[in-house]
Amino acid sequence: MTPVIAQTRDELAAVRQGVQGTLALVPTMGALHEGHRSLIRRAREIADVVAVSIFVNPLQFAPHEDLDRYPRPFSDDVEACAAEGVDLVFAPTPQVMYPTAPEVRVSSGRMGTIVEGASRPGHFDGMLTVVMKLFHLVRPDVAVFGAKDAQQLALIRRMVVDLDLPVRVVAAPTVREPDGLALSSRNRYLSGPERVTALALSRALREGEDAAPRGAAAVQWAARAVLDDAAKTDPPLELDYLALVDPATFEPVDDSFTGEAVLAVAGRVGTTHLIDNTPLVIQPREA
Ligand code: PAF
Repeated sequence: MTPVIAQTRDELAAVRQGVQGTLALVPTMGALHEGHRSLIRRAREIADVVAVSIFVNPLQFAPHEDLDRYPRPFSDDVEACAAEGVDLVFAPTPQVMYPTAPEVRVSSGRMGTIVEGASRPGHFDGMLTVVMKLFHLVRPDVAVFGAKDAQQLALIRRMVVDLDLPVRVVAAPTVREPDGLALSSRNRYLSGPERVTALALSRALREGEDAAPRGAAAVQWAARAVLDDAAKTDPPLELDYLALVDPATFEPVDDSFTGEAVLAVAGRVGTTHLIDNTPLVIQPREA
């Protein structure tokens, strides 16, 4: 079944008015892959009606980033939505989403300036602003986001609490290729050799996971060793950060930390910025 496609606010409002039961929104920037499809399937399980938004949000790209070349295979995306039984696709143009240049934005606070936010100033304010607008326009009961963007997810959860938004946020696990590479719309930029280098990100996370029973410092050393090796390959991995953080605040934890944490990594291969993360339980270091 082909989903209803709404491109304007009026078209969206007309469809929204007719929705009966609960509505789940899966916000995306399109270029849908199996990871997005798993979010849609999760949405299908928990709501009567599933909406997918497709919008490449200019506000979350810095001037030197890949806004212009970001893939926009719209008809493939609609086909993927149809195959997953999506009811509504909201695909506004930038003009519809931002009829006037937005002066007022959502502030992501300190959490938006650390880890990924330190590498991409302004990114999280732009992301939260569009998510807030999508929540207002689509009025979902529940919204589904991928755990791959762990800091984004933590910030959206925080926005919902801090600003009393009537939306339940549900996370779905990262989907990986059989060799470990986390699915991302940006993977299509990678050449064959760049893709081989990019595998270091997930390999570093696995080494970190294996070291969790030996404590927080061991996790960082194990992951760092993989990334240091990848920095010497051709093409090299240019590391942006490796961070062991509190899952709710994204503040780095210290070497004595025990409990639930997220090991997050990001780097550049060629001109492609890639991120990945894994949840961990850090055990007390053996004496
Ligand atoms: O994760 C994404 O694709 C984007 O950051 C989102 C949540 C759709 C906002 O533009």
